[in-house]
Amino acid sequence: MSENTEALANLSHEDRRFPPPAEFAANANLTAAAYEEAATDRLGFWAKQADRLTWETRWDEVLDWSNAPFAKWFVGGRLNAAYNAVDRHVEAGAGDKVAFHWVGEPAEDARDITYAQLKDEVCQAANALVELGVRAGDRVAIYMPMIPETVVAMLACARLGAPHTVVFGGFSADALASRIEDCQAKVVITADGGYRRGAASGLKPAVDEARTKARQNGISVEKVLVVRRTGQEVAWDDAVDVWWDDLVGKQSTEHACEFFDAEHPLYVMYTSGSTGKPKGILHTTGGYLVGAAYTHWGVFDLKPETDVYWCTADVGWVTGHSYMVYGPLINQTTSVIYEGVPDAPHKGRWWEIVEKYGVTIFYTAPTAIRTFMKWGDEIPAKHDMSSLRLLGSVGEPINPEAYVWYRETIGGGRTPVVDTWWQTETGAIMISPLPGVTEAKPGSAMRAIPGIVADVVNDEGESVPDGSGGYLVIREPWPSMLRTLWGDDERFKDTYWSRWEGMYFAGDGAKKDADGDVWVLGRVDDVMNVSGHRLSTTEIESALVSHPKVAEAAVVGATDETTGQAVCAYVILRESAGFEAGSDSADLVKELRDHVAHEIGAIAKPRQIMIVPELPKTRSGKIMRRLLRDVAENREVGDVTTLADSTVMNLIAEGAKGSSED
Ligand code: WTA
Repeated sequence: MSENTEALANLSHEDRRFPPPAEFAANANLTAAAYEEAATDRLGFWAKQADRLTWETRWDEVLDWSNAPFAKWFVGGRLNAAYNAVDRHVEAGAGDKVAFHWVGEPAEDARDITYAQLKDEVCQAANALVELGVRAGDRVAIYMPMIPETVVAMLACARLGAPHTVVFGGFSADALASRIEDCQAKVVITADGGYRRGAASGLKPAVDEARTKARQNGISVEKVLVVRRTGQEVAWDDAVDVWWDDLVGKQSTEHACEFFDAEHPLYVMYTSGSTGKPKGILHTTGGYLVGAAYTHWGVFDLKPETDVYWCTADVGWVTGHSYMVYGPLINQTTSVIYEGVPDAPHKGRWWEIVEKYGVTIFYTAPTAIRTFMKWGDEIPAKHDMSSLRLLGSVGEPINPEAYVWYRETIGGGRTPVVDTWWQTETGAIMISPLPGVTEAKPGSAMRAIPGIVADVVNDEGESVPDGSGGYLVIREPWPSMLRTLWGDDERFKDTYWSRWEGMYFAGDGAKKDADGDVWVLGRVDDVMNVSGHRLSTTEIESALVSHPKVAEAAVVGATDETTGQAVCAYVILRESAGFEAGSDSADLVKELRDHVAHEIGAIAKPRQIMIVPELPKTRSGKIMRRLLRDVAENREVGDVTTLADSTVMNLIAEGAKGSSED
């Protein structure tokens, strides 16, 4: 892992330490004793965490690992996810408690939703889905903006035992179609559109396009349920399309829920892997909810009576699932949900929201933190954020400077910062400081939380000594682990469990420092991390090659000050493109960037596209992305001796000069 050595060397200079404030430590939900307890009896520890949920039938066995890597947790247990998230709180007398302070992007749009109201709406939506023919086991795709109906839709599906697959609203029609096809969604829930930076942008047209595409591939979506959000004009097919207001509004607010096996599928979340086709990560009900609820309570030190919690993630990502919807609701939290971008209508919007609602726990991504750093300290300084008592970070390694800025400028120097490492696959936080226990180091996710057994290993799968780097693995199964890839058990085994016997390989490189604390260094496979979003190089390469002018493409993630990594593409054109070497490529580059946005979504747009005459390949034909990364990051190009043709890099360096960037 040569490219990691530089990063490793940098770590040794970081000697700042942030112990928990005494008062925080004295009142913390999780104490140092939990490490001990979990190490002594791991399954007993998890059984205790499972008591956070209400089970209709208790489990007979905590874990069945006899058919590894296919795990069964809380075997024989039965429960309902929506009942646990909503109904039981109302039954316990908390119906008037606010579940969500929803804040729309247009400033005048805001709505508080109590647990009792949420229960009514979830029941109505569940009844509506039943009327549309949805039954336990059917898949429902959700393609929505960040509005309350999105949470209601997810919970209504969960209530019926119909696994949802939420597709990020920024993804294109093509990306939506491939997900609908892969899980054979019967119903799609969407909106006419959503707001972004003051402008209404359409969602329904993409659903129409995706539905047509899916039908051509033999998958027919039976119904599309449409929330009216922006009031945009939309095309309408009476046989398929149904307005949410017309159907949901008239339903009864009572719905007697059914209880499902602990291993009943709860949702499928698609994420990028190292091949082009996104992977459908399957999470099931009991174990996933135990993991989400335990970590939300423990890592965020949640005090449901007094805290106001805000996770800024989009519901289209796993963070939105575990830490905006399921974890917080199971724990009877009052949360903020914000629909829009951080700079609409002004750059202080987030801090205004923190002040207005008295947010106490705040969870966001390093890319956002770095953006705020760039915008300047005077913007947060205008707001009283003294309510904050804990900050969290997720999605990519947080650089120490950003960590310290976050703690000082947003947290007023008082708040612990938890740098939480986890993945779509893990379902819940795995490695993180405990805010009341850990003396945190900026830039380190520190240690596996109680109940999780993580390690860093070398190529042979042996644990590396403190002070060394290697691959991040998980050594023991955990309740919120993915159960398989939707419809592809082989790929599941291959991707995560085949590298070393009995270990889950996360795909990240990491280092243990001299104290044994973990520093996650980033992906070692062909997955990039752009603004905390996973994108695969192959996926973007396929999108580029699907353009008629492109013969070949290679994509790499290059370090970017704000987004962590940025997409850089090297493209060989077809003769028929008629492009003269050395001529102005601006229009063509724009065309290709837009093409990628159309195929995948705007987040995948390359920052930079270089038209090149050749790509560096090994004798076996494998593209040497390492060398391309050197060019993209303006470094001296590394060892080229394994190239089939070692002059190629000179050609690329020349070609790169004629590239354009915006
Ligand atoms: C990266 C997001 C360093 C990592 C919850 C992982 C991190 C991938 C951290 C998963 C962190 C996430 N420090 N790297 N605190 N958190 N990552 O599936 O590379 O969207 O494998 O899940 O993000 O991304 P995913």
